[in-house]
Amino acid sequence: MQTATRFIDSPQRRWLDLLVGSVLISMLVFGSIYIYQLNNDARDLTLANELALRGQQLSTDHGCVACHTVDGSPGVGPSWLGMWGKTEMLTTGEVVTVNEEYFSSSLRLAQRQVLAGYPNIMPYYFLPEEEVVALMEYARQLANPQTP
Ligand code: HEC
Repeated sequence: MQTATRFIDSPQRRWLDLLVGSVLISMLVFGSIYIYQLNNDARDLTLANELALRGQQLSTDHGCVACHTVDGSPGVGPSWLGMWGKTEMLTTGEVVTVNEEYFSSSLRLAQRQVLAGYPNIMPYYFLPEEEVVALMEYARQLANPQTP
């Protein structure tokens, strides 16, 4: 007769389950609070026109703000604060300026145009032109939020 208890039946294993479970649950809870907060930050800005407001709405609807902050703090992707007009380097070594052309191709060619120093994880977005225009107006205003 075998007497040794298998680890899976042991009390230690139960504690391990509880520990792993609570770590996962707190990640879920704090992750949700964090994303909620990012959405709120994005809504708090004062914007000059309807188009920019629409862009702001779209940025939360499409989940852009989960990766892009609007207050300059670091996120998964670069912050949109002051992004417009900035000169940056891609992983290919190519130097680009953030303008209409670059912005819209960043959405459609997300995996081809990757900013140096960032992970290549931005999803492709095939948005209607009207939405891209609104997002760009929003980004443009974020470049200089003091003078709307
Ligand atoms: C899963 C995270 C994620 C989401 C969601 C996301 N992005 Fe990005 N984005 C990134 C990362 C990471 C980079 C930097 C690497 C790269 O260029 O692909 C980036 C780069 C960009 C750039 C280029 C910025 C620069 O300074 O060169 C633009 C513009 C952009 N994203 C717009 C958007 C828009 C608009 C949306 C929503 C419709 C969006 N992103 C959603 C992660 C994300």
